[in-house]
Amino acid sequence: MRAVALDRFGGPETLYVKSVPIPEPEADQVLIRVGSAGLGVWDIGEREGFVAKMYGHKPTFPYVLGTEGAGKVAAVGEKVKDFRKADLVYGLTWGTDPKAGFDAEYVAVAADWVSPIPSSLPIEQAGALMIDGAVAFRGLDEILKLKRNDNLLVFGASGGVGHLAVQIGVRMGAHVFAVASGDDGVELALRLGAEGAVDGRGGDILASAKRVASKGFDAALFTASGEVANRALSTMRDGGRVAHPFGLDPAPKARSTVRVQGFNGGDYWKVMPRALIRKLNALIESGPFEVHLSRTFPLEKVREAHAALESHHIGKMALLPGA
Ligand SMILES: NC(=O)c1ccc[n+]([C@@H]2O[C@H](COP(=O)([O-])OP(=O)(O)OC[C@H]3O[C@@H](n4cnc5c(N)ncnc54)[C@H](OP(=O)(O)O)[C@@H]3O)[C@@H](O)[C@H]2O)c1
Repeated sequence: MRAVALDRFGGPETLYVKSVPIPEPEADQVLIRVGSAGLGVWDIGEREGFVAKMYGHKPTFPYVLGTEGAGKVAAVGEKVKDFRKADLVYGLTWGTDPKAGFDAEYVAVAADWVSPIPSSLPIEQAGALMIDGAVAFRGLDEILKLKRNDNLLVFGASGGVGHLAVQIGVRMGAHVFAVASGDDGVELALRLGAEGAVDGRGGDILASAKRVASKGFDAALFTASGEVANRALSTMRDGGRVAHPFGLDPAPKARSTVRVQGFNGGDYWKVMPRALIRKLNALIESGPFEVHLSRTFPLEKVREAHAALESHHIGKMALLPGA
């Protein structure tokens, strides 16, 4: 099969498409014919060896990249009970299996790390859902305990986590205000249901925020940080709740009357957040939902894809191994 397989960790020059054997699924694994492999900022870290180091893995080369994706089950190991050939699934290998990567025509993944695709979502979009979807939903549901009619601020609202959080927040009945990046980011956030949006790369956040939440925001999800983010934090009301995924550097800091909490999408991604993913799937199936793919690439364009990750883009991007 064709796969993005590294001979060593490093820069973009390590990215090649190679012919490697199709993995044999072990007893507890499913073999997936990959339709879509989501790209995220963490792919750069995986390529550079940071993920293997963080999890204490001793990787073997060629090392197939790709931490999340979706496709059709091609075969199942003899102990797998929950999935059958031809099921449509999405899943994760982030930190769980150094031998498996989604940037390939096939991947063998432990069935524990796989979920059915929400029936309304195309495979291409489902491939980019798992990591940012789990973060957005956990942040709003478990960490912020978002309530109907809460005034919610999403900072970084046009990014991978952010554009999903806008839609989930709206579906949960909150009034969503988006701080997005660029005119295209503002347009995306408004199209996805935000009641107001401002460009955090140039717009007047404080004036716009005042118009939609004159008493300050009840809750906020921050997916980007820095000087503008700190300014946006001042729009929280006393007693307001702020959540941010771990990995955000520097982490947001607010005054003492605002609670700030960092979190991971899964329980440090050591256990598949199965109940969370089930609830996320149900929420997605309950109405229109989009994992916005601003660009897709065939495997052969993986260098272009990694370069695109480091420049302005909105929503998510994905490699399509069948293209
Ligand atoms: N711990 C976990 O489980 C976990 C999982 C997933 C992600 N994360 C972390 O969560 C963070 C977000 O991830 P992501 O996938 O959503 O990344 P992303 O797609 O890069 O989203 C971040 C967004 O913030 C935007 N942004 C930056 N500064 C802004 C500003 N001043 N105003 C408005 N928008 C601004 C960026 O836009 P431009 O760059 O285009 O300007 C980008 O769209 C990252 O730090 C990632 O490491 C953690």
